[in-house]
Formats: sequence, structure tokens, C-alpha cells
Amino acid sequence: MIINTELEQKGNQFPNNIISYKKDIDTLYFTTENDVILQLTVLRDSVLRFRYGTMGNLEKDFSYAITKYANSGYNHLSIKELEDAYVITTEKLICHVNKADLKISIYDAIDNTLLNQDELGFHWEESFEYGSNIVKMSKISSEGESYYGLGDKPTTLNLKGKRFENWVTDSYAYGKETDPIYKAIPFYTGLHHKKSYGIFFDNSFRSYFDFAHERKNVTSFWAQGGEMNYYFIYGPEMSDVVANYTDLTGKPHQLPPLWALGYHQCKWSYYPETKVKEITSKFRELQIPCDAIYLDIDYMEGFRCFTWNKEYFPDPKRMVKELMDDGFKTVVIIDPGIKIDKDYPVFQEGMDKDYFCKRADGPYMKGKVWPGECYFPDFTNPEVREWWSGLFRELIEEIGVKGVWNDMNEPAVMEVPSKTFPNDVRHDYDGNPCSHRKAHNIYGMQMARATYQGLKKFGYPKRPFVITRAAYSGTQRYTSSWTGDNVASWEHLWIANVQAQRMAMSGFSFVGSDIGGFADQPNGELFARWIQLGVFHPFCRTHSSGDHGDQEPWMFGDEVTGVVKKFIELRYRLLPYLYTAFWQNHSEGIPILKSLVLYDQKDHQTHYRTDEFIFGDKILVCPILEPNSRGRRVYLPKGIWYNNWTKKPRVGGKEAWVDADLDTIPMFIKEGSIIPKYPVQQYVGEKDFDEITLEIYYTRGKENSILYDDAHDGYDYTKNKYSLRNFKLTGKSDELILQQHKSGKFSTKYKKFKLEFIGLPFKISKIQIDNETIEFDKVQKKGDFTIVVDKNFNELHIME
Ligand code: GLC
Repeated sequence: MIINTELEQKGNQFPNNIISYKKDIDTLYFTTENDVILQLTVLRDSVLRFRYGTMGNLEKDFSYAITKYANSGYNHLSIKELEDAYVITTEKLICHVNKADLKISIYDAIDNTLLNQDELGFHWEESFEYGSNIVKMSKISSEGESYYGLGDKPTTLNLKGKRFENWVTDSYAYGKETDPIYKAIPFYTGLHHKKSYGIFFDNSFRSYFDFAHERKNVTSFWAQGGEMNYYFIYGPEMSDVVANYTDLTGKPHQLPPLWALGYHQCKWSYYPETKVKEITSKFRELQIPCDAIYLDIDYMEGFRCFTWNKEYFPDPKRMVKELMDDGFKTVVIIDPGIKIDKDYPVFQEGMDKDYFCKRADGPYMKGKVWPGECYFPDFTNPEVREWWSGLFRELIEEIGVKGVWNDMNEPAVMEVPSKTFPNDVRHDYDGNPCSHRKAHNIYGMQMARATYQGLKKFGYPKRPFVITRAAYSGTQRYTSSWTGDNVASWEHLWIANVQAQRMAMSGFSFVGSDIGGFADQPNGELFARWIQLGVFHPFCRTHSSGDHGDQEPWMFGDEVTGVVKKFIELRYRLLPYLYTAFWQNHSEGIPILKSLVLYDQKDHQTHYRTDEFIFGDKILVCPILEPNSRGRRVYLPKGIWYNNWTKKPRVGGKEAWVDADLDTIPMFIKEGSIIPKYPVQQYVGEKDFDEITLEIYYTRGKENSILYDDAHDGYDYTKNKYSLRNFKLTGKSDELILQQHKSGKFSTKYKKFKLEFIGLPFKISKIQIDNETIEFDKVQKKGDFTIVVDKNFNELHIME
């Protein structure tokens, strides 16, 4: 494979001096003497878009990544001409465009810190073979700069010193540093001088990023075709960079149904029906909560999508209903390859309607996948997506399947070295016909989008649930995802941790790994440690290839079963907390997992940490990643943190040893937090409860917490039928005040809160709720205290 580095000077061409400049509302056009155009658009005070064209032209503007719902508009925009540069100023940024060479420098408008500066800047190399350009950009890497993001790369969180490729690839049993793998998310965040910015290179061709790898002081990115088209997104907080990137490429279109946040059990493959029932019954018998059961490819007739193997599953509708009655939602796999078989209606219809991808000279794109030789729908054609979404009617509306799992959508092709389509395959690209070079990275995304549309249509008024393997920026709008075919090894446990965090900081939070590992068989200890991490991932599913033994929670002996049950129960108890984090992600683009650097970028100690992360915004989790561990060292961010198990407070801003036998992992709650918890249920909605718990962690200061709730499915929440509680906790040495502010028109089924106070430094002698002094049981142990109150209180004081 040719890697065109930006350093390959032979053939590189550069812009020269600007000869004209034009402004059109929020967009500036600069043209150079040698016919390079820079189109600079001010999208927001903190978001600038740069597009470059050569030969005096820009391409037609089209992107699958950018959402039409992105916010736009700025508070300030002024342009000044200096002797050597044009200066564009917004409320947040100052951008210099050099007259001599079109190079860019961007500064913080408030304190003038230089944030980002072109090194060679835009340059290009003509491609004789394809007629387009290899477009390149190089930037100066600032002193002490760190880099994060890029989706699913299985490497350390900080990307400095490394080079990556974006080309979605079926990567069975990939390892640490394998690159590229399943996803292409050409978005990174740079951090230096305590300030963070992001760059989203929206180019779907095979692209590369080099973070001070080839040259120590240079960071560059380039693509094998298309335009140099990137967005500069300013923070200065990294969480704002990610939220702004997510705003641009889209927040999830709706909340997932709450059941999708439960535990999912999967294997390749559970069949026949009796096997499926054996698994689901065992969950209920052992009282291990579980919400979803998966059917992998063997449920189909000869791996033909949208068919059932009637020998294994004689009456799918009845089975799906029976499973549902027992609280199990059925999720089925659907792959893109359609078996070439003239007696198979989906194939026939695809042929009749001319919906399959073709090679450059006319023949169909033929490739081998599970069913043997297949043709592949061109999901980049809107008409094909519409057709595909319609194919889900029977599965969803009639049979009652609740979720669809899209696999092999890189697209994967077996027995060919490239593992995918050849470059010459043609695509519609929503009316912008092109080759596979351009469509490859977005093919899986468009498949998941069409699937999502089918589920939305036929599942209405229920919310859709889709999972995809391949993804490009923006895929988070439609679907959840998993990290592909990993391995049952300790190294992969480390990879799973890093990937879930990296995906969250790349705007795609609803992600998890195959718990326990897809290939090979974990031992009980590894499985337990993986569950202990997996319950803190937004998507929580055990999956395995099944070739090497079974991977259900009870397969590893009683001790492990007990540990697994304890942690899955913990996830179910934390559902209201997790659901609130999903709501924040859906409404504001806030990542559900926060790596320590994203949580506190001002603390240099966080810049190279990879293991610890914040789950939601209050709970610090640090997985155990080595065998035979009885604990590990953990970095606690600044502030005071309560050990979740002992409830003892600890001062952060340093590393600490934390004990963790097999039945526990290091887990800490930030002081001042209010953590909502449900009682344990075997599946979402099994029980209606009258009361939920709020754990209240004392602070000598102030802290805010929120609790979001709604009907857990359906769309009423979009019409004000939600319940949002803002809690404000204020602690003094002799008093703790809890104020509640409520909004939304949804009335939760629970009526009461059980308040559990943790870490009170005083003995309580008086409690006041909404100005009334109340009677209470004065027995208080070790600073902890519990009381049940009406959920609608406004203000509560507990006093020494
Ligand atoms: C792929 C998927 C895996 C699935 C298997 C069979 O390897 O990544 O999850 O079980 O195909 O469908």
C-alpha cells in the first residue's frame, strides 16, 4: 500500500500569494495567484471551517458526517486587512490568513494564546491514476502538545508520536496497535498550554494522521482524494470540543429505550429455540439481570438476510413473544451481503430494481461472505436505503424483534487480500457518483442508517435500537456500536477499556466490547474482570464466537458467577444515573465516559493516563487489568473521592494503592455527588417501585447533580413529558442543605426518595424539610444516615 506522507516533497505543490479576497456573509474566499481557493466559513464563534480547492475550483459541497441540525451563528465577526495577513476575529478566536502563502494561525481571542499554526499548511500532489489530488495539511506541534481521539484505535489514549490510517477494516483478532480496524473517525483533539481544540478532517477517502511521528514538531493529515476540508473546533475545555464536534456531526437522534442500557447476552450462535430458552431461563433461575438476547447468523435460512431457519426456529413470532413475556428483547443480526439466489425474493428484488453495487465496467460487485457469493446493496443510494428500511417490516412489526445488529458492513469480503471491495466499485453517494475509494468509509454508516430508519418506522412508537460494527463520523446519530472481533486475553481487556473511552471522546458514546472476548475462551478471572469493566460501558454485551466454549455468566464456577451477578446488579441499580448520562449525551453531546484528561485537562498528571475514567460525571472507575491482582495503583483526580465500597473519603491529586480482590474493583464517588439508584430488577420494567435511593456524599462545599427520567421508551419525552431534577448540595461543618429544582411534565412512578447520607462529619440533631422540622430516628452510625422523604421536596436541611 502506498502511504503518501506529507514529507514526500517530490510532486508537492503549494499555494502562493493571495490575489483576491471576497466575503459572503459568514464565508470568506481567498484566491492565490496559482489558482488555489481557500473557503473559510465561520460556523460559530468557536468553529471555523477550512476548504481548499486547486485549479480555481471547489467540489460540490456534500457530507454524510455533518448533520443538518448542527447549531450555527456567532456573536461577533470582523475582518481586518494587515500588510501581510487577513485577520478574522470572532468572540472566541482570532484567525490569521497569510497573504504570501495562505498559511493559517489561530489564537484564543481572549488571551491571545497561539492555538494552532500551519507548518507547510495546505499542499497537494496530483494523482495521475485517479485524476484527483492527494490533499495534505501540516501543522506545527506545540511544545508539550498531546493528542486524543480518532475513534477505535487500540493504542494508548494519548496519540502523540504515532501515525494512523483511516480505512474501515474487518479485523478478526486484531491486537494492540493494529491499524486500521473497524472505524474511521477522522477527528482529533490537541491539548497544550491547558487549552484544547479539535480538528475534524471531513474526508471519507483513505486518510492518515501523523502526530509528531515523522517529524518531532509537526502534526499532519492527508487523504488519497477529495478535498482538504477540515473544521477547527475550539474549547478551551476538551469536553466542549467534543460537545461541539458532536453538535456538528450529530447527537443521537433519540434516547435509546432504557432496556438497551441493561445487560445483553450474545453468542455465535444460540440455536435452536430450545437453546435460546435454556439460556434465558437460566438467567431468571439464577436471578442475574438480563434484558436482551441475540440471534447470530444461524437463525437465518442459509445466511439469507430477512429469512428464518424454520427447523431451528419453527415459529419465530411465538418465540419472540414468549421471550418478551419473560423480559427478553430479541436482537437479530443482519449483514449487507445478499446471497446470489434467484429463488430468494430479496435478491430478486434487488436485481429487478438495480440496487446492487457494480464494478467500473458494469459487472456486479460479487464477493464471498457467510452465505457464499453475494451482491451488495448500494446503501449510498437514498432509494436503496428506503427499500432496505422497508425490508424490516416483517421482522419488527410482525415478529416483534426489538433490535438489529449490523455486522460485516465495512463491507467485509472473504478470501480477498483487501478484505473489502476493489477500489473501482461504483456508488451513488447520494447523487454524487463516485468510486469505492470515496464511499468505503461511509458504506457501513449508510447501512446502519437505513436499518435505523426501518426500525424507527416499523417499531414506532417504540425507540429504535441498532448496533453497527463499521462507522464513520456521524454514525452516532443512528446507532450504537461494538468494537469488533476481539480476543479473550488480558491485553484485550486493556484495549476494550481504551477503545470505549476513545470512542466517547470521539463523539460516539454508546459503545462496548465483546465482554470476555470474541475469539478464544477467557478463564473465570478474566471474565469476571471484564464484566467489572463492561458494566461501566454504555453498551454492555457479552459475545463470543462459541468455538472455544461457552461464555454465559455461570460457566466459570460459583465464585465468578457471584461476582458477575453482583456487578450486573450494580449496573441495574445505577440505571437512573446512566440514563441521565445518556440524556446529557443526547441533548448536549457530553460524552458518557470521560477519560481523566477530558475530566481535568489542567492537571498534567492526567495527560498520559489511560486506565482510569469517569463513568457519567461523578463515578471514577479503574479496571483491574492483570491476572492475580489484589489491587492496583489508581490516580484520583483533584478533590475528595469516596471509596464506593468502604465509603471512606480520600484526597485526590495523587496516586494511591487500592485493594481489589476478585469481587471488587477500584471505584470512587466524587464528594458532593448525588447518585440515584433503582432497586435491582431482572429486566427493565420488571417492577414498579414506590421509592428510589439517592446516595448523598457529604462535601464541605457545593456540588450540583441531576436526575433525568421519562417513560423509558417512546417519544413523549420530546413533548415535555420528562422529569428533570437539579439537586444542589451545600455542605458546612454543622449543616448540609439539599435543594431540588424540578422541571418537565412527566410524573415518575416512584413517590419517595430514600436519602442515604454518607460521610456526615456531625451528629444530627435537627432535620427540616420545606421549613418544617420533622421527627426522625436519632440513631446514626459512623457518619451515615438514612431517611425517606417525598420526592417533591424543595429544600432539606440537616443540622448538628
Ligand atoms: C463477525 C462479527 C461477530 C459475529 C460473526 C458471525 O465476526 O464481528 O460478532 O458473531 O461475524 O456473524
